Amino acid sequence: MTADSITLIKPDDWHVHLRDGEMLKQVAPYTARQFARAIIMPNLVPPITSTAMAVDYRHRILAATRDYPDFQPLMTAYLTDDIDSNDLIEGHQQGVFTAAKLYPAGATTNSSHGVTDIKNIYPALEAMQKQGMPLLVHGEMVDSDIDIFDREACFIDTIMQPLLKDMPELKVVFEHITTKDAADFVMSSGDNIAATITAHHLQINRNDMLVGGIKPHLYCLPVAKREQHRQALRQAATSGNKKFFLGTDTAPHAIDDKESACGCAGIFTAPHAIEHYTHVFDEENALDKLEAFASINGPNFYGLPINKERITLVKKCQQVSETIKDNILSIVPYKAGESLAWRLD
Ligand code: NCD
Ligand code: ZN
Repeated sequence: MTADSITLIKPDDWHVHLRDGEMLKQVAPYTARQFARAIIMPNLVPPITSTAMAVDYRHRILAATRDYPDFQPLMTAYLTDDIDSNDLIEGHQQGVFTAAKLYPAGATTNSSHGVTDIKNIYPALEAMQKQGMPLLVHGEMVDSDIDIFDREACFIDTIMQPLLKDMPELKVVFEHITTKDAADFVMSSGDNIAATITAHHLQINRNDMLVGGIKPHLYCLPVAKREQHRQALRQAATSGNKKFFLGTDTAPHAIDDKESACGCAGIFTAPHAIEHYTHVFDEENALDKLEAFASINGPNFYGLPINKERITLVKKCQQVSETIKDNILSIVPYKAGESLAWRLD
């Protein structure tokens, strides 16, 4: 490693939305180009709720990433109030499901089939605990009287703590954490609790989204918080602590769905994901901690092997495209039109 170049074990992305159909074809190669493996979120329409659906979806992803034959999509199940625990556990035993995702109903994009009361899925969670199958959590309270900026902190006290009291051995990834509260909670919990952190939550606070005009392409859920939270996330990510790892939450939406009177939540960070993270670690003088965060802590938590290949990033300017389009779809990438300091070699 020099100040101008860094070689890493090939990273994995532990939280990705690849969508389906045309969108899948358009976006999946960006993830497969940079990452060896990716945890694929199941919030399609309809959601991936069975092993059979996950097998089919996996085939469509492999077809879309044919140019990167070593890329491995790791599938997840979308938990619903009436999820079939037997199918879920069998899917895990067969190696189809790596994990299952809890979306509180109404919390985010395509979460209307999500869980309305955590108690409804206790049988599934007990089976997962026994099986050692990780639960991935969208950690936001959805009650309408809870301020959107407080939803993550509220979730910790109201749902997460009681759940872990009831199921102390359950492996949980607190996905895309956005607050100091969540970072502190993860640090003070047992080894069965970890968290992913996105590149954008390391880079933007709520002012970036709202001051000087509303920026729909910086709107995502959980929504970016105050600066003090961004600082806490940067500290957690660059600390080398094994509980924190890379999960981009890249969440593409067509341009018209973002630039709208009721715009969708989600930031399309995939095109330059590893470069954004490298930039942050460089700013924090923590490039020596990037490999743990991007390539080691995740597989260790999931109990998967560490990748053998390597990638190199160099400190060379490049420009992010204004839009990424094919004949059908236009998507605006994160930091569209801006210049980036790092580049994947
Ligand atoms: C995600 C999406 O669009 O699917 N949106 C987002 O803002 N992150 C869903 C999610 O992860 O919350
Ligand atoms: Zn997500």
